[in-house]
Formats: sequence, C-alpha cells, structure tokens
Amino acid sequence: MSTEISQSKGVYISTYGCQMNVNDTERMYSLLEMINYAPVPSPDQADLIIINSCSVREKPVHKVHSEVGRYKGLKTQKPQLKIGVGGCVAQQEKKQLLTDVPLLDFVFGTDAIDSLPSLVQDLEQGEQKKVDAKFRHSEPYHVQTLVKNPGVSTFVNITKGCDNFCTFCVVPFTRGRERSRPLKHLIEDINSLTKRGVREVTLLGQNVNSYKSDCGANFGELMRAVAVDTDIERIRFTTSHPKDFNEELVGIMQDHRDKIMDYIHLPVQSGSSEVLERMNRGYTREEYIRKAKMILEIMPGAALSSDIIVGFPGESEKQFEETMSLLEEVPYESIFSFKYSPRPFTKAARWEDHVSEEEKSRRLTALQSRHKEIAFELSKRYRDSVVDVLVEVFDEESGRCSGRSTQNKLTHFNGRKEMIGGTYKVKVNEAFPQTLRGVLFEH
Ligand code: SAH
Ligand code: SF4
Ligand code: F3S
Repeated sequence: MSTEISQSKGVYISTYGCQMNVNDTERMYSLLEMINYAPVPSPDQADLIIINSCSVREKPVHKVHSEVGRYKGLKTQKPQLKIGVGGCVAQQEKKQLLTDVPLLDFVFGTDAIDSLPSLVQDLEQGEQKKVDAKFRHSEPYHVQTLVKNPGVSTFVNITKGCDNFCTFCVVPFTRGRERSRPLKHLIEDINSLTKRGVREVTLLGQNVNSYKSDCGANFGELMRAVAVDTDIERIRFTTSHPKDFNEELVGIMQDHRDKIMDYIHLPVQSGSSEVLERMNRGYTREEYIRKAKMILEIMPGAALSSDIIVGFPGESEKQFEETMSLLEEVPYESIFSFKYSPRPFTKAARWEDHVSEEEKSRRLTALQSRHKEIAFELSKRYRDSVVDVLVEVFDEESGRCSGRSTQNKLTHFNGRKEMIGGTYKVKVNEAFPQTLRGVLFEH
C-alpha cells in the first residue's frame, strides 16, 4: 500500500464554468487515477496541473494566461511539471493556445477527455507540446458517469453539445454537435449511482429537451423511465429550453411529482420579442409568458428561475424595460444575469456592441436590485410551511444540517450528522431571498 502511494503522482485541476465542466473534471480525475495520478489539494504538490476552462463570458484566454503565469515559479523548481488546458477555451483556441501561453505543455478539447491518459503518457515519454482538439461527432456518446465520491446529489450528463446557435453563444462551437446518451445506459448509470448512496440526480445537458435516445425516447420519456425504473429519490434537470418546453413534459413532471422536483430553470434571456428574435431563441415574450403560466397551472407551487442577458447588441432602453417588466409577470425565485460580451465565432459578435459598459452595468444593477425585492416577496410564501429537505451537509460547529427543498431552496435546520442523505420535513420559520431556515417537523 505505502509503495503504491509513494509511486503515485499528484494532479491538480482547477475548474471554471458550468456543471458540465465540473462533471468533466471528475471524469479527468477518475481517468488519471488509472495511470497512477492521485488528486492533490494544491498546485505546488502537483506533477500535473490542468485548467478546465470556460469561454462563455469575459476574457477567458486572459484568465488562462494569468493562472498559468502563477505556476511559472513551480515550473522552474520542478521542470518535469506538466501544465495543460482543457475545456471550452482549449476547444476554441486549439493549438494557438500553445503559442499564446508558452508555459503550456498540452491542450485538449471537450471531446478529447477520454484520451487524456494517453496524452499524458506521451508527455511522460518525452513528447512535447501536444494538442488534441478534434471533435468526435461520429462516435456514439456512450460514457458512464465517472465520479470518485458521488455524495448525496450528483450530475449525470444526458446530452453533450448544442445545435441551437443562439447568436450570442459560443457553446455550439466549443462543445460541438448535440449527441444523446442511450436511455438504457442512463438507467444503468443511475441505478449504479443509487447503489453508491446517491439520492438525487440532476440530468444535465445544454438543452435537455432535445434529448433523443437511439431507441427514439424523448426527454419526457426519459424522465418517466428514470422515475419508474430506478430507485433514485429525486430527479432534477438543467437546462431546459423554453422553445421546446411543452405541456406533455409538464404533465409527466406533475404525474411523477413525488420524484421529479418542482423546480424549472427556464432561461428567457430577454423580455423583448425583438431582442429574442435577434438572439435566435425561437420564442416571443408572449409565448414564453404563456408557457410559464401553463407550467404554474399544471404544477401549482412549482419554482421557476432564469438566465438574463442585458446590453445585447441593439438592445434599446425600451427593450431593456421589457425585460424589467417581465420580472413582474413571471415569478422567478432566482435569476442569473449577465452583461452581454461578444464571443468568437458567434453571429452577434459581428454586430455593433453598441451598449456602453457603463450602461450595461446600470441595466444589470437595476435588474438585480428589482429581482432581489421580488425574490424576497416570493420567498415569504414558504414561511410557516413545511418543506421536504434532502440533507447534503452537516456543520459540526453550528450543529446545522443543510439541503435543498423540492423547489431548490437552500434550507438550514438544526440536526445531526446521521441525517446526511435523508429527506426530512422542515417547518420554515425564516425566509430570506435565497435561503430558508426552519426546524425539524418530524423525527
Ligand atoms: N444552454 C443554456 C445556457 C448555457 S450558457 C441555455 O440555453 O439556457 C449560460 C448562460 O450564460 C446563458 O443562459 C446566458 O444567459 C449566458 N451567456 C451565454 N453567452 C453569453 C454572452 N455572450 N454574454 C453574456 N452572457 C452570455
Ligand atoms: Fe448556447 Fe443557446 Fe445552446 Fe444554450 S441553447 S448552449 S444559450 S446556443
Ligand atoms: Fe463555459 Fe463551456 Fe460550460 S463555455 S459555461 S464551460 S459549456
């Protein structure tokens, strides 16, 4: 045992971006373990450093530059140290990144993760400056979830890539064409995670609604199968696209509400139909509002959240006001809001980015401060109610358990360590904009 430990090398991965990247990092750790690399808690203990990068917003190449710059001293002390970049910046920049950031030893794209062990072994054998940024569009997407310590709640990729080409978004270029995992594999995957103690899965994709199994099953059918054919307690999903969200799907959610959580992240991006058209989102303001109302009618009490961009090219003051007024019509419990930034390869990047930084900041602040008030109001509906909380963590010092309600509200209450992994009824006595506090209702 001790010889094994002394022989193993250390790998440190820093992760940016969305849940896809978090999942990919887990996969990288598991794959690298097979060639004897163990995770280490800090870069100075590592023989291999990987930056799993994101390019969805703001100066991503610059971020890679500055992080690699911080490792310069380590590389001088330990010349055998290898530094690589994966994820969306790697996919976007490919071999150019090796030129721009000379300290780098390798670059690998979003479809090259499973080739990482052989790439690292080539470097160990003396090869230099390796790049693998090919898309493998014709290969079937058959990956089992690889996660070392899955915990109570985990993410399961159901699709990769995106074919929607919203005009602001780089993801179709960094993740490639959309591919779906076969339904049969997903059921097996979730069953094996359940055996390892997982209680909740979040089905993950850039646009989960366009899931299509090789057997023909669509996203609704997948959710029904996960609810019926696995022992998983809770099912969540992200991200769903408003244009593909339909009544059939909401019906399936309502039918299986004991397992499928009543929380839907439905990114609207803008409240102006003209802006939505330029964004190529495929729905109007009115259609979106109709869908949101339909969801709340079929699933009373469900929670909604959204992503919103301010300052998209051509967004007038009036169009921004339409986004503000949308907040009054759709009860979002949380929003993730961003200033538009031009991304390479995208259509909108060729248009004049006419809204000044200052004005974008003003719009963002106005949106966020109005939403904060709304979130506080909406959160009050939980006061004195009883919510079901799946406990994910216990804090020894405060004696506090924390987990999420079915509507995805982070909820705290006093409990015990053994409660981790269990679902408890909690009577809410304090409601904050994003969190709830309560007491155990039932033992
Ligand atoms: N697939 C998801 C979104 C993935 S990107 C969807 O379709 O909703 C996450 C969020 O980043 C987007 O919803 C959008 O709000 C934001 N975003 C993407 N590109 C952006 C850009 N160029 N500028 C600002 N925000 C952007
Ligand atoms: Fe980007 Fe649009 Fe695809 Fe979402 S649906 S990943 S915003 S292109
Ligand atoms: Fe970023 Fe790529 Fe995810 S651009 S948000 S890491 S898909």
